[in-house]
Amino acid sequence: LAARKEGFRYFMEKEIYEQPQVLADILTGRLRDEAVTLDEFPSAWLANFSSVTLCACGTSYHAALAGSYLLERLARVPAKVEIASEFRYRDPVLDPRGLFVVISQSGETADTLEALKLAKAQGLATLALCNVDNSSMVREASQTLLLRAGIEKGVASTKAFSAQVMTLWLLALYWAQSRDTLDTARRVEEIAAMRRTLDVVRVQKPVHERLHRLSKRYLHGHGFFFIGRDLFYPLALEGALKLKEISYLHAEGYPAGEMKHGPIALADAELFTIALMARSTLYDKIKSNVEELSARDATIIAISTEDFELADDLIRIRAFEHPMLEFFEMLVVVQLLAMEIAIRLGNDVDMPRNLAKSVTVE
Ligand code: G6P
Repeated sequence: LAARKEGFRYFMEKEIYEQPQVLADILTGRLRDEAVTLDEFPSAWLANFSSVTLCACGTSYHAALAGSYLLERLARVPAKVEIASEFRYRDPVLDPRGLFVVISQSGETADTLEALKLAKAQGLATLALCNVDNSSMVREASQTLLLRAGIEKGVASTKAFSAQVMTLWLLALYWAQSRDTLDTARRVEEIAAMRRTLDVVRVQKPVHERLHRLSKRYLHGHGFFFIGRDLFYPLALEGALKLKEISYLHAEGYPAGEMKHGPIALADAELFTIALMARSTLYDKIKSNVEELSARDATIIAISTEDFELADDLIRIRAFEHPMLEFFEMLVVVQLLAMEIAIRLGNDVDMPRNLAKSVTVE
């Protein structure tokens, strides 16, 4: 059956709008009131591992990074993140009692597949998080969690990223149960937040319209810095990657607290700083990081629930207590912002120049 855009301008847009359904599919059959279940393997299996390594490329690497924060915070398991093309040639030292996880939309990315084979050859247990059933990584890994995102056509990954992050969150909670690191009240809170994400990622018309209008202000300039802290750092990386993939503008994601160690030298009015100012997470810290940039004349685009007088543009988001709800709320904003800028520049956002959906060669 030919994939259709169903009234959307691009597959990327359709896929952004599909995210509520994707998250609903991922949660189906997996949530109880006080616990999560993954039928793919028993939670006791996870209790055996002393650490976890998450390995991936591109957008999937950003999901891995977000996953490492969740796994350490919820399950208290030491988590490492690896870029596959670096890992595989480094002669890495692996924890023989660790779990090795690969994350890949396609299940075919050459570097990630080879990294998986390397870990397997060293005797580690392996788990693949893939969107494509029967892909090479699914066949190679000892366990699999399928992402349930449906076919993704846009080269710039959107719904597969949401699916990866949600699946990693489920994994972290499942692992937490096996290690008994969270009390019941906390587990109930996590599960309630998971249920709410379906609404959070539903695109709100006024937000999309505002981003469409705002996008025309950012077609020039000498670069974008997406900055965030904690979980919003991987999100900053992903926001910057989305923008550069389809708009061909220079964008970087950076940990907000690290700007003073170099990048702040670039600050001037032509530097656009997209600040992911999460109310739930280190708000005062990122606020002071942004104040420093503003004092050096950087143009500040704040994504925030709060009024912020130094913002040149404020993209107001809804307030949520749980960091993951703020994460998903901001994710939709950075996806739409990148798309609107790229469309305004006249680019084909589904088929960006020089990029391939799946990189099966080195
Ligand atoms: C390519 C795509 C990216 C993707 C990366 C990893 O570079 O253009 O969107 O994130 O590969 O792909 P994977 O299928 O392993 O997630």
